[in-house]
Amino acid sequence: MIPVVDVDIKELELKAVQDVVKSKYLVEGKNARSFEEKFSKFSGAKFAATIVNGTCALHLAMVALDIGPKDEVITTPFTFVASSNTILFSGAIPVFVDIDRETYNINPEKIEEKITEKTKAIMPVHIFGNPCDMKAIMDIAEDRNLIVIEDCAQAHGATIDNTHVGNFGSIGCFSFYGSKNLVGGEGGVVITNDEELFEKIKSIKNHGRSPEGGYAHYFIGFNYRMTDLTAAIMNVQMDRAKEILSKRHNTGDKYREGLSELENLRIQKVLSGHQHSDYIMAPVILNEKFSQNRVIEYLKSKDIGSRAIYTKLSYQQPCYLDLSKWHLSRVIDYPDYSKIKCSNSELVAQNHFEIPMVTSLTDESINYIIETLSEFFD
Ligand SMILES: Cc1ncc(COP(=O)(O)O)c(C=O)c1O
Repeated sequence: MIPVVDVDIKELELKAVQDVVKSKYLVEGKNARSFEEKFSKFSGAKFAATIVNGTCALHLAMVALDIGPKDEVITTPFTFVASSNTILFSGAIPVFVDIDRETYNINPEKIEEKITEKTKAIMPVHIFGNPCDMKAIMDIAEDRNLIVIEDCAQAHGATIDNTHVGNFGSIGCFSFYGSKNLVGGEGGVVITNDEELFEKIKSIKNHGRSPEGGYAHYFIGFNYRMTDLTAAIMNVQMDRAKEILSKRHNTGDKYREGLSELENLRIQKVLSGHQHSDYIMAPVILNEKFSQNRVIEYLKSKDIGSRAIYTKLSYQQPCYLDLSKWHLSRVIDYPDYSKIKCSNSELVAQNHFEIPMVTSLTDESINYIIETLSEFFD
């Protein structure tokens, strides 16, 4: 079976971890500092701070930007649940805006109508690694004085006019969870171009300490530090980023070329000047004749791994439909999420399917996948 996801880890990563174990310095240290330097260069951001994972990176961004109780944050429902969960963690309320059915990203034209006097921020998610229309989003944010936090968890290597995503809003948050383009097992980074905010982030992720450490705590903070074991893996992954990403882009380009003519299928639209991270390739079925499950089962029968991931939108998740189990519901009035309907998001959720996007794919297997899909959707 050609795997739908895989991890590109080699001997070099193993050696890096062994070195950390031998050094006995397992907590955040010189490997983390070196990874931050590499990630800042890679992303073009002035500052990068390691965080234990992408979820904590987003939560930290909320706290550092003072987003909390009584605030509303606009985001997309077609994403991993962590995106809107971090809004809930901060005490704020997620407000869901429908996606564009072609890019699968939040539709900037629908943001305006959801802005109220309580709206404090927008959290665009570059879903599957496809950059959002950041120009339109930033125009709205500037016009309405809103903060922007970019969820770049899936978007390593995604750019808009050569600027890496994460640099448009106040903070960009990345994940290095084990299935991502660049992996550390768990892991995260926040980037920013604001020095004061960066200092605050570094303190809050370390229990509100000053840069010198010690036991005086200036903010209520968290332990969101990354271990040097993870950072050591990430250092090697950064050294290999070009190699890993170019393989993914090669596969993404071949899929886009080979599948764009299929009438019953639509591949995710990438806006002009935008570079997809090629984290996930998930076309959408356009003809009711072919169901999501049928396609996935057919591909599997041909030894091609496939799956559908966000078949439940965030507002459809059981935990959102019964927020009484969430402790902050004792003090916060949440909307009735069962009344929300984002029709494009529901359409994409019910009709997308993932195809293999792994660095071990050969040109031969890419062609085989394209041919198999062409035959099925003919
Ligand atoms: C879009 C999105 N946001 C946030 C996260 C959370 O990142 P992590 O799993 O590193 O906590 C993920 C998942 O991995 C994600 O895909």
